[in-house]
Parts: sequence; C-alpha cells; structure tokens
Amino acid sequence: MNTQSRRSFLKTTAVVTSTLLFARAAQIQTFTPTGFPEPPDLPLTRLPDGTLRGEITAQVTRTPVDGQTVELYTYNGHFPGPTLRAREGDTLEIHFTNRLPEPTSLHWHGLHISPDIDNPLLEVKPGETHTYTFTVPRGSAGTLWYHPHIHKTVANQVHKGLGGLFIIEGPLDQTPGLKDIATHVLVLKDLHSQNGKVPQPNMLDLMNGMEGSTLLVNGRVNPTLTPTTSPVRLRVLNSSNARYYRLSIPGQVLHLIGTDLGLIEKPTPTTELLLAPGERSEILVAFSGPGTFQLQNLPYDRGLMTMNSMSSTPPDPKMDGMQGMDMKGMDMKDMDMKDMDMNGMEGMHHMGMGQGTKAAGPEVLMTFRVPEGLPEVALPVRLRPIRPLGVFQAFPDRLFELGEDMRTMQFLINGRSFDEDPLVVTVKKDQVEVWDVVNRSDMDHPFHLHTYPFQVVSRNGVKEPFLAFKDTVNVRPGERVRLRVKFADFTGLTVFHCHLLEHEDLGMMGVLKVE
Ligand code: C2O
Ligand code: CU
Ligand code: CU
Repeated sequence: MNTQSRRSFLKTTAVVTSTLLFARAAQIQTFTPTGFPEPPDLPLTRLPDGTLRGEITAQVTRTPVDGQTVELYTYNGHFPGPTLRAREGDTLEIHFTNRLPEPTSLHWHGLHISPDIDNPLLEVKPGETHTYTFTVPRGSAGTLWYHPHIHKTVANQVHKGLGGLFIIEGPLDQTPGLKDIATHVLVLKDLHSQNGKVPQPNMLDLMNGMEGSTLLVNGRVNPTLTPTTSPVRLRVLNSSNARYYRLSIPGQVLHLIGTDLGLIEKPTPTTELLLAPGERSEILVAFSGPGTFQLQNLPYDRGLMTMNSMSSTPPDPKMDGMQGMDMKGMDMKDMDMKDMDMNGMEGMHHMGMGQGTKAAGPEVLMTFRVPEGLPEVALPVRLRPIRPLGVFQAFPDRLFELGEDMRTMQFLINGRSFDEDPLVVTVKKDQVEVWDVVNRSDMDHPFHLHTYPFQVVSRNGVKEPFLAFKDTVNVRPGERVRLRVKFADFTGLTVFHCHLLEHEDLGMMGVLKVE
C-alpha cells in the first residue's frame, strides 16, 4: 500500500469506526428508559493505530444536587464522572488535565496494569496534564472505577464529587444469556453540603469517615427506573468515602452475578447485599410482577465512634498537623457541643451526636416502576469457571493487623502509619501468597489492594461460599479474612490501604514492592 492509499484507508477506517461507535451509543440510548439518570459515557476517539483517546478534566463545577446548587469537584463537569467504557484488549490513551486549585491524579481502581502507569504516588499539579496510556488486559472485564489518589486529600476530593465508573466488557457480556438483559449503572454516593459547599470535616468525620445525609444514585435523590427487560442487570458501585450500603429490594431476590472484578461462577440468590466503600457488585433482578419497588439501604452497624468513645482516650498533645483541628488541652468529657467553637467542628449537628449517622430504619435509594408485559429473559445458569489462585495452606504467608491509636488519631497497619514509618512488604513477581487481614479495632475497615486481584478464602476460618476476584474486602472488628493473591506480570511499587478514605489519609496504608 502506498502512503496515499494507506492514509485514505486509515481515514476510512476511522470514519467507519466512529460511525459504529455512534451507532452503539445510539442503541444504548434507546434502551435507556427516559427519566433514569445515568452518567454519560466518556467520548472516545479511535486513533489510526486503534488506540482509543479520551479527555478527562478535573474541575470545580457548580452542580445541582437535590434542589440546591453545590460547588463540587467533577470530571468534565459531570457528577458522578463520565463512565469510561472499554473492551478487553483495548488500548486507552487518557489525557488528564487538572483544573483544580490543588494537586490531584487518576487511579484506575481494580485494573491489573503496571504500577508504573497506575502510580498511586503520582501527582498532577494544578494546570498540568498527564497522559495515562495502557492496554486493558484480557480477562479483566468487570465494573471498575477511577478516582483521585493523592495521600491526605483523597477523602476530601472524592467526597466533593470525584469518581467515575470504568466498565470493561468481555466476551461473556456478548453471550446471548447476558447481552439481551438491559443493563444500568448505579453509582451510590452520599453528600454532605452546607450553603452550597462541602464543609470541612469535623473530628468525628475524620475518625468515622465523612457521611452525608443526602443519599444519591447517579447524583440524584431517589431516581426512578422503568426496566425494559426482566431481569434487569445492575452494576453497582459504592463510591462513598465511608458509608456502607446494605442493599435490599423488599420482597425481591437479588441474583448476585459479579463482584469487584467481574462475573462469579453462577448467579447466587440473596435478599441483601453489603457494599463497603470502594466495592462493586453486579446483580440481576427478576421482578415478581408489575408494580413499584424500592431499592433500600438497610441499617448497618460499622462500629461508628461517638464523642463518648473518643473521650475515654484523651487526645495526645503531639497531635498537630491534623488539618482543621486543635484539640490541645481539651477534655472531651465535659464538652458541651453547642458551645464548641472549634475549627472544623461546624456541621457536627448532622452527626446526631453520640450515634454517628447510623440510620434507625431503611432509607430509600431509588424506585423501580415495573410495567406490565416486560420482555422476559431467562436467568443464566452458569457464568464462567473460576479457578482458585494457589492451593490450600494451613498458615498464611503474611499477617496484616488493622488498628487505631485514638490518642494520636492514627489508623495503622501492623502498628505502622504510612506517614511516619510505612510498612513495606516485598514479594516475588508471579508468586501466590496467602494473606491474613485481622481487624484489631472497633470499627469495620475495607481492605484494598492495588494492581493484583485477590480471592477471599475464608472469614474467621469459615470458607467463603463462592470464588470471586476482588480488590476490596470488608473486615469486621475482630474478624480474620484470609485471601490469596498472585503478584502476576508486573514488578514495581504499589499500595494497599483502608478504602474508608479518611483512614487512608490518616495513615492506614502500606507499600507493596513486587520484584
Ligand atoms: Cu480506590 Cu488506592 O484506591
Ligand atoms: Cu485502588
Ligand atoms: Cu478503615
């Protein structure tokens, strides 16, 4: 092929591809029933070499939320951020621009790519652009997400609105059983706003993680979805800093088909589903008939700290450097909250003093309006085989103990804080290890590992009911979660941390070195 014809060939290919992409998008549009808000897809352009190029800009955006306008941080002006959709094998080139007044970055949560590219310590300064180029590996289909990753500011930036879905489609999504089922995304997030702004966290917000009283699905309060098939497939992300969701649709069965990193072996029926911060689930819901159904968040006790529990350990005077706090010489026991005049303590009222934000009853997240005569699709029987990573081992290779120090307001792994003396764990590339994560504190912690998917083997010695690939697992107080992880393909430095983002910012993070 000479240069001329090659060029026109490439040009034609590009045009055809973008028409196809457009057709695909249009088809998805007609499938989306009016009224249900879903984040827009991130526009991608196919370059001559097949690479898909997209632009993401982090910016300050005044956004309507629940009848008010709130100053949020957004990606491309959207809250939640646009959904990045790709297929296994695609090469993506994402041009990321920081228009925020502070450093930020993108982390590809759950993606198995080199930590040199998905670098958890990289900073993109205000006004700068950084290009992330990577190939989506085969076998990585699932519901992933992207969010900022600058230590000490992650919690604030995510609470202010940064985060978006990264949906990877694989060959299984194209099989008859699944492709005929209408799919929707549910980004769960709570928001705490006051006078059109997201306030600074108070001390309890930092310890417990920021929870907002406004519960949002795709940025809206109680949106309504009219399904177009039964079952309907839901890809659900908990992008909240700290709020746990115990999901239920009263009277209906949730068929779990996928977890953080793709499909499980076969649908598993359940009536409720717990999603810790950072976790994802895919579920099929075959409604029992026409009518109105609510997706509810049931109460869940994650061991929230109260002013009382904090006052039993007087604050340490050396605790400086904590943003927005000055606890020196304060006796929490005798404090009258109404009279308190502490930097960052405003907004305390929303905590419902002494009981955190623990709701007394179910809260409505969204509503399904199921019409008469919905096209029915059979529930799939089998999804994909999953082989266990590694073999049975009586003892773990490593132990990770999650702890806290109330006096210094630090959250720790093996007694170490990321800020002072980070825990560094060195492992061999392509080896499988068994890790025990034990929670020695009084509250739940979602343990998250970058880059390398893991499988949960057991909890407190009780075998996990099914095999799944995950990147985040909740660990309850006193619980011992055993997992297996293979450090496949990449050497380099990455991190593991609590995905309750305030805890990560307060030091609950360690370094993994793969050599
Ligand atoms: Cu989603 Cu290091 O995090
Ligand atoms: Cu991550
Ligand atoms: Cu934690």
